[in-house]
Amino acid sequence: MIAVDGPAGAGKSSAARGVARSLSLSYLDTGAMYRALTWWLLANQVDISIPAEVAAHMRGAVIEVGTDPDAPRIRVGGADVSGPIRTREVSNAVSAVAAVPQVRAHLIAQQREIIGRAVAAGDGIVAEGRDIGSVVAPEAPVKVFLTATETARARRRSADLAGDPAVTVALTQAEQARRDGRDSAQMARAADAVEIDSTGIGLDEVIQKIVSIAMSRTAGAAWTT
Ligand code: C5P
Repeated sequence: MIAVDGPAGAGKSSAARGVARSLSLSYLDTGAMYRALTWWLLANQVDISIPAEVAAHMRGAVIEVGTDPDAPRIRVGGADVSGPIRTREVSNAVSAVAAVPQVRAHLIAQQREIIGRAVAAGDGIVAEGRDIGSVVAPEAPVKVFLTATETARARRRSADLAGDPAVTVALTQAEQARRDGRDSAQMARAADAVEIDSTGIGLDEVIQKIVSIAMSRTAGAAWTT
C-alpha cells in the first residue's frame, strides 16, 4: 500500500492516480469522501456550522467510492456526485465537516475497510489524503508527503476550476489559505514519509519519483501488503 498525503493543490490526485496506473494498483481518494458527505449535508439543509447536527445526520449519507484510477467515481445514496463535489461551495464548506470527530471516526473506519479489502485481495492500493500515513494506515510500507509552494498550488487549483471567470488565482489562493488553516489540525505528516516538492516539476517526474520510492522501500512488489 502507498500513502500519499499533502495539502490542497499539491497535485496528489493526479500523482496518486498515475502511480496506481503504472503499478496496476487500486486508488482511493479520501478527500472525495469528505466532499461527498459535505455535498449531501448541504443538499439536505443540515447546518454544518453545528458539529452536533453534522454528527447526528452523517449516517444518512450512504457513500460508495470507486477504486479504479482510470474512472474514480463516487456516489451518495446511489447518485453519482463526482462532479458536484468539486464545486467551490463544497470546497469552502468541507473543512468544517472534516473537523467533526465523529465524521473522522466514521469515514476513517470506511477507508480502512476499503484499504483492507484491496490488500487482502492482493491488489494493493494508493490512498491519498491528509492523514493516511499517520492515522488511517500508519502501517503503510510506502509514504509520501507531497508539497508545493502556495502560489504553485493556487495556480494548479484555478486551472482545475477554469471556466468560471470569477475565479482568479488570487481568489483561489485566498480560499486555499483559509482551507489550509482549517485543515491544519487534520494534516499530520508521518515521521517516516518521504517529502516531494512538486513545484516546477512535471507530473510524470512526480509519478516516477513515487514509483522509485515504492520500489526501493519494498524491494519489488511488497506494496501490495
Ligand atoms: O483532497 P481534497 O482537497 O479533495 O480534500 C477535501 C477536504 O477533505 C480537505 O480540505 C480536508 O478538509 C478533508 N480531508 C481530510 N482528511 C483526508 C482527506 C481530506 O480531512 N484524509
